[in-house]
Formats: sequence, structure tokens, C-alpha cells
Amino acid sequence: MKNYVLTPGPVPVPEFVMLEMAKPIIHHRTAEFEEIFHKAGQGLKKVFMTNEEVMILATSGTGAMDAAISNTLNRGDTTLVINGGKFGERWGKICKAYGVNFIEHIVEWGKAVEVKEIEEILLKNKNIKAILVQASETSTGVEHPIKEIAKLTNNRDDIILVVDGITAVGAFPVEFDKWGIDILIGGSQKAFMLPPGLAFISLSKKAWEFTKNSNLPKFYLDLNQAYKNSLKNTSPWTPAVNMVMGLNAVLEYFDKQGLENVFRRHTILSKATTQGFESIGLENFAKGCTSTALSVIKSPEGIDAGDIIKGLKEKYGMIVAGGQDQAKGKIFRITHMGYVDKSDMISVIAGVEGILNEMNYPFDAGTGVSTASKILDTM
Ligand SMILES: Cc1ncc(COP(=O)(O)O)c(C=O)c1O
Repeated sequence: MKNYVLTPGPVPVPEFVMLEMAKPIIHHRTAEFEEIFHKAGQGLKKVFMTNEEVMILATSGTGAMDAAISNTLNRGDTTLVINGGKFGERWGKICKAYGVNFIEHIVEWGKAVEVKEIEEILLKNKNIKAILVQASETSTGVEHPIKEIAKLTNNRDDIILVVDGITAVGAFPVEFDKWGIDILIGGSQKAFMLPPGLAFISLSKKAWEFTKNSNLPKFYLDLNQAYKNSLKNTSPWTPAVNMVMGLNAVLEYFDKQGLENVFRRHTILSKATTQGFESIGLENFAKGCTSTALSVIKSPEGIDAGDIIKGLKEKYGMIVAGGQDQAKGKIFRITHMGYVDKSDMISVIAGVEGILNEMNYPFDAGTGVSTASKILDTM
């Protein structure tokens, strides 16, 4: 049976990227590789929508989240963690590991944070040095209002806005310079259509100022080291050479398509999938604040999402992600990032319809597929 990986990371990698990564190894301390590294850095700036340096780290996304904290803060500092899901929760865990205090603002799963509430917390707690948030919370499928949150921080020099854009950057616009974000993080195994293993991070001038006073321990992920080396088109440690080669293939593809069309593709896949499922009575978990990087769909009353996920895998070879913690058994999650297209979305909706039919869930079989198809035809 053919395997379809339709999880919101890792995602399927296009063949042209695999072939690029299959090329023979180049030594990293050579002019040839420096050229490749330089090109990748320049291409990333366009996706990050910034003139600042974007550093390429050989780590998964969490490594870059860790670096964002360890390079800018001090033991005993206070941050504001926006926790609306598993990845928001992770900000708090990283703070705890470094002895950084945090005020945890819990947001109901499936809802976006209210900017007004952040404003109130900032008014009451003048000592907050960083807001830590996700642009796209992958555990719930929610897009948080980063542009609006940035308005609370971009005219203050005593607080930075740190944005985990791991399932946002490359999927929809996150305008680093224009909005005034201070730290933005991307991850290879998401909209960048690469295997896991690289993270990308950019810092504003304000965030670089913060690094000067930071006394938290760091070595491998010392961003000042990464920055100095990045300016010389290299990295302090051995880079993931072939992944960077693959990254260039992706960035060239983005350029050829036009970034706006890359974003549009995610939007159409998201619209088709959420509306397709809605037409057969399956609700969008993040209604009104949907991240177009993935669809998070609620299983119908009385049906365990785990059974849908199991059925998709066993009957059709399709792998989608489930919910974690409080959402376990209630939702399933489908990627719009990576090498997925119309036929993948049609197939997964048809697969779910097939399983629901067997469970005697009452609906008009085929409605989900036909609703989605009409939207996908606008692609
Ligand atoms: C929003 C978000 N943040 C952080 C992470 C963690 O990244 P990684 O698993 O690459 O360390 C993920 C991974 O799924 C994510 O989706």
C-alpha cells in the first residue's frame, strides 16, 4: 500500500528537492559551499520578509525556540507565555529550564489570543521582557494575531516579541520587518518542504541589543556566533550541508512560483479541506482563526477521532495527526504544507467519508469531496 504522509510536519518532500539533497557531499569550508550558504541566507530573507540576517541552525524547531530564550534573557527575568496549545506550553517549559519566570496566559484550545488581554497583562506587569507566542499553533490549527500583538511591543525598547513561526513562515505572510517582530523562527519540515533537521531564526536590532546583556548559558546555539559566521557565509559548526542544498532548491521554487502564490496554494487547500468537511457536518476546530498551514477537524459527536485516524492508516495508507492532551480523540490534523496538492486533499476527505460511512454516520456520501473539489478548482 502506498503511504501518504499528511501530517503537519514532517511533510512530504518533492522529488526535485530529494534529488538535490542526493548530490555528493561538498566540504563546508570551501568557496563552493559558501556560495550555497549565502544563496540560502538571501532566499530566506525574502520568506521572512526581512532585511535582517536569517540564520540557519542544524537543529529542529525547538532548538531555535531554546536559542531565542537563552540568547536574549537573564535568569529571573519575566516573560509572558501565550499558551493556547502544546507549542505555547513549550515556551513555558523552556523558560522553566533556564530559570526564567513566566506569566502563563492560558487561551482556550481552538481560539486565538485576545490582544486586549495581552495589553492588560502588560499594563499590570511592567517588568515583562518578552512575549512568547506562536504565529500558528499546530496542536489546534489556530493563527494568533501577530501583527496586532506587535503593535504593543514595537514602540517599546524594553520588551521583545518572540514568534514561533514554525508552521507559519512559508505558509502565510509573517511580516518580520513591517510588523516589528523581534524574533521569528521557521522550521525545515513544514512549509519549507524539507526533511526535519534545520531551523531558521532572525533577530531584530532590538533583540540583538537584548543578547548583549543575556547571561543564560549557551554554546552550540550561541546566536552571536551564528550571526558572525553567517555574515561570512558559513556557520560556526558543521552545517547540514545537503539539507542546505535542498533548501536552495525550495527557495528557487518559491521564487519561481512567487511567494504570494505559495501562500495562495495553502489558503485554497485550507479552504477546500475545512469547507469540505463542514459540508458533511465535521467542524473546523479553529473556526474564525484558522491557520492555513493545516486543517484541524473535529470528529463527529460519539465518534473517536482515533478511530478515523486508525481507519485512514489501515484502509488507505494515509497518515494524519491526532489531537494531544485535552484534544485527544476529538480532532484530526491534516497538513497543507509540503508536497501536497489537490488530489491529496480529495483523497483524505474521500477516505474519511469512507470510514464514516462504515460507522453509519448519517451524511450524504460524496458531498465533502464535491464541496472541496469546487474550491480546489480555483487553484
Ligand atoms: C508551532 C510549532 N512549534 C514548535 C514545534 C517544534 O518543532 P520541532 O519538532 O521541529 O522541534 C513544532 C513542531 O511540530 C510546531 O509545529
